[in-house]
Amino acid sequence: MCGIVGYIGSKQAYPILINGLKRLEYRGYDSAGIAFIGNDLRVFKQKGKVSDLEDFVADKDVSGTVGIGHTRWATHGEPNDINAHPHQSQNGHFVIIHNGIIENYSRLKRRLEDRGYIFKSDTDTEVLANLIEYIYMYGQVSAEIAVRLALSKVVGAYGILVACKDEKDQIIAARKGSPLVIGIGEGEYFFASDATPIVEHTKSVIYLNDNDVAIVSKGEMSLKTIDNARVSPKIHKLNLDIGEIEKSGYEHFMLKEIFEQPRSIQDTFRGRVAADRKSIHLGGLHEVIDKITNAKRIIIIGCGTSWHAGLVGEYLFEDLARIPVEVEYASEFRYRNPVIFPDDVVIAISQSGETADTLAAIKLAKEQGATVLGVCNVVGSSIPRETHAGVYTHAGPEIGVASTKAFTAQVTVLTMMALLAGKRRNVLSDEEYHSLIGELVQVPDKIQKILSYNEEFKRIAALYKNATNALYLGRGYFFPVALEGALKLKEISYIHAEGYPAAEMKHGPIALIDESMPVIVIATHDKSYEKIVSNIQEVKARKGIVIAVVTQGDQVIKEMADHVLEIPDSIDALAPLLTVIPLQLLSYHIAVMRGCNVDQPRNLAKSVTVE
Ligand code: G6P
Repeated sequence: MCGIVGYIGSKQAYPILINGLKRLEYRGYDSAGIAFIGNDLRVFKQKGKVSDLEDFVADKDVSGTVGIGHTRWATHGEPNDINAHPHQSQNGHFVIIHNGIIENYSRLKRRLEDRGYIFKSDTDTEVLANLIEYIYMYGQVSAEIAVRLALSKVVGAYGILVACKDEKDQIIAARKGSPLVIGIGEGEYFFASDATPIVEHTKSVIYLNDNDVAIVSKGEMSLKTIDNARVSPKIHKLNLDIGEIEKSGYEHFMLKEIFEQPRSIQDTFRGRVAADRKSIHLGGLHEVIDKITNAKRIIIIGCGTSWHAGLVGEYLFEDLARIPVEVEYASEFRYRNPVIFPDDVVIAISQSGETADTLAAIKLAKEQGATVLGVCNVVGSSIPRETHAGVYTHAGPEIGVASTKAFTAQVTVLTMMALLAGKRRNVLSDEEYHSLIGELVQVPDKIQKILSYNEEFKRIAALYKNATNALYLGRGYFFPVALEGALKLKEISYIHAEGYPAAEMKHGPIALIDESMPVIVIATHDKSYEKIVSNIQEVKARKGIVIAVVTQGDQVIKEMADHVLEIPDSIDALAPLLTVIPLQLLSYHIAVMRGCNVDQPRNLAKSVTVE
């Protein structure tokens, strides 16, 4: 949510900022802006994409070696030029960019209005800019002290960069709840809300922790808390390659990420599945493995696609390890006074590792004594740092806003965890355990095969690009896949779609079925195959259009359905990893054919750091 970028050094800041904003645009894309801090303070901002900002500044003076930039996902105030960041304080001393929400902004705003401040925008960020300035001017303190004092009055979440025109060789960065990374170069520093804009400049980074304030000038940086206690910076080495955050010849990031899945799944189990395929080692869980084995209950929390992966996890843990599982939306879990026992194991799933609701739910579960594990993709993000233990999904950076490879990597990790627990609890015999591992290892090749049918999926997508509604049906392991398929379609093509357990169709959605309603049914050979065949017949009896995901060679459904999307045979527990692929590609092609921006769908953001 909102991308932040900054530079201080001896190079020209503009190319670094604009390139950084393009890399961060997946975090928010309703407006963008930049500011340069030198002999004067120059701020340029525009509603629209980073490319609109680029056009806008084409004839402006964008020189300078100290600058900050922002790409916005609106929270307070509609997307327009005025609400775009950076925001300047009323008397022009400060300029600020912000990611997060200042919850007590209206009270702070009223107080500042009583003292003569007049606000131009509807944003909470302008309130913070003016609060800092008010303390600076009337308290006669340095910019750093003004920032720290102002932040001590703020309730809410922030990742901010602040510059003061009177201390022009300095950028102040602070974080609480919203991520900020500082890259360390030779006599220069880079700032960003995640490492993607930094990696091309330096691999040495510091991840700010909550309540950290970094005071950075061209040659040095000092790190402290908002209460002025010194903090020693921990320098991490980025293990990220520039090629991973570029489109590499694909038309969209989403397509690239769909096609990366054979590799990303392999990377996720590499080094964790033994070479002889007889055991699984999850180093990150070493210290908590007995807690997982003996857990009376697992609670899985997440949002969006990660919540869908959690639902697959529920089937996996119950089926393979016989541990009862509850899957919760993080946002609901934290506000409904949940009953949490000290011997509960909570698994938080998050691609970004920054989702605000998931983070808050983790804190609640920890307070109540549960063991909390993370399944995250972004190394060094907040959730892995907040949890007791965890397993990274090694999917690589996911830039497309609609999650694809992160989902399959999350399901891969959950599969390994469930297999390990199942073995340790003696639910799985050696033979079953080895055969399931053997199946897991074959998944990348099977996905490669499914990807080779892409042109066929595209042909079918063309027939339904003008649909207004779609229904996705699945049973058992495929119910969460149906939900995920429906989410993919609605978020990138804006076609209304619903996922349903196939048997539940009779209790409502069947009323919607007519000759214009595509019904996508996941109907591979599993234990409820006969039942799903009946469900297909029920749809056909009402003249619905059936697009069925089937096991290669299935003749029965081929004769009933309007179209079949074939996938290689697999066992039930591993089939979600396969059945989701045609659904991702179907949505992708439909969205492209409808002229939608698949990588940056309207109103969405990749990383949701507000509650
Ligand atoms: C946003 C993204 C989704 C993602 C969800 C949860 O809504 O657009 O793709 O599934 O957040 O994000 P997380 O990073 O916690 O997995």
